[in-house]
Amino acid sequence: MKNRSTFILLTALIISCGPRERVSKEVFDEVNKNMEVKRLTESEIIQEAMIWGDSISASAQKKLISNLQKAIEEGGIVHAIEFCNENANQLTNNLEGILIRRVSTKNRNPTNFPDSQESPILDAYTYNSENNLESEPNIQKIENGEVYLYTKAIIFPGGICLNCHGEPGSEISDPVLKALDELYPLDKAKGYKAGELRGMWSLRIPKKKVVNRL
Ligand code: HEC
Repeated sequence: MKNRSTFILLTALIISCGPRERVSKEVFDEVNKNMEVKRLTESEIIQEAMIWGDSISASAQKKLISNLQKAIEEGGIVHAIEFCNENANQLTNNLEGILIRRVSTKNRNPTNFPDSQESPILDAYTYNSENNLESEPNIQKIENGEVYLYTKAIIFPGGICLNCHGEPGSEISDPVLKALDELYPLDKAKGYKAGELRGMWSLRIPKKKVVNRL
């Protein structure tokens, strides 16, 4: 809409310019070309940030799950809790120089509670989940547009995860419960059911880094 009105305005200027038409047309072309390049670049950058965010969050997830499985095989569930406690955030928080978080309002580690930029997006995902609507990955501009906040809903898959996030007593065994309570006295991340929203991935991707990839 804005581009169209600029176009009309420029056309009117050129027509009214008469003898200087040739020069004006060059200016006109130049302005339009720049605008077009800029406009394309912004949408291209966002598209690239989305692709990159999808790929980083997917590989962080893979890395977490394979390390978790390895820790369980090596030393059982209680050992794996210690492993998560020491490594989960380091494993994910710096892939390719991007700040990565997993946040949740029903969180285990207190540092994984959403901040003021993440909170409204997680609220929207929660609303969708409660109303059986799909949540798409999202990109939001923050820090005056210099950083893209990429988010993606984490749906709780059940299965292996129930050992530490399921129902205490039935799904979470007593020794596991004891270990969790000792490490996380404020733990809210129990009682999850398959298909529920567990939280979301939150990646802060600097625009400059995205541009460098294009
Ligand atoms: C061996 C126990 C264990 C298993 C199995 C496990 N988790 Fe966790 N989970 C933890 C611990 C411990 C933390 C806290 C890690 C930390 O201190 O950073 C955690 C944290 C999380 C968080 C970050 C948000 C928060 O609550 O702090 C998410 C999301 C999460 N787990 C999802 C899953 C999913 C999905 C699975 C299944 C693939 C899973 N977990 C399996 C123990 C486990």
